[in-house]
Amino acid sequence: MKKMMMGLVGVMAFVWCVQAEAAEVTWQKDIKPIFDKQCAGCHGADSPEFEEFNKDKKKWADQSTGMRMNSFSLLISYVGWPESGALMRRLDDGSSKADKKAGNMYENLGATAAERKANLEIFKAWVGNWNLKRWKDVTKDELNSLKIKY
Ligand code: HEC
Repeated sequence: MKKMMMGLVGVMAFVWCVQAEAAEVTWQKDIKPIFDKQCAGCHGADSPEFEEFNKDKKKWADQSTGMRMNSFSLLISYVGWPESGALMRRLDDGSSKADKKAGNMYENLGATAAERKANLEIFKAWVGNWNLKRWKDVTKDELNSLKIKY
């Protein structure tokens, strides 16, 4: 009986692992398709690098052009470093913010409230630790608990 129980626990652990893997949110599988549809128009290949954008923010913003984020490497620089928490601050629906105001990129997450909410959940699952802090405040433990899987 004890052996059978052990076997059962083993099988359950195995099933759980397989499920967890299948459900894991990745940039390739989940984030890139949303990004290409909702963000690439302003943050795509034709957009300037962050430092280039910063030289003349107004000029770019007036043309509805943001900074380039259209690769895994570029996008995670707005999550961990150097633009720590920027993605989270901009996409948040207000519920994680002290002033309860949604970030100004939240509206770009979808055409309807339902789509925005669903896409925000996917971004949250991808980031893992939805932390809005900037580099000067974020701790190493908080950075360590980011998921941001490729
Ligand atoms: C209509 C154009 C447009 C769309 C669509 C758009 N953005 Fe932006 N985004 C901008 C512009 C312009 C800026 C710079 C001005 C500002 O800071 O608000 C910006 C700034 C940002 C920033 C701030 C980066 C920093 O370091 O401060 C983030 C993060 C961001 N966008 C993410 C996104 C994501 C993710 C999406 C898709 C869900 C998206 N944006 C869709 C135009 C856009």
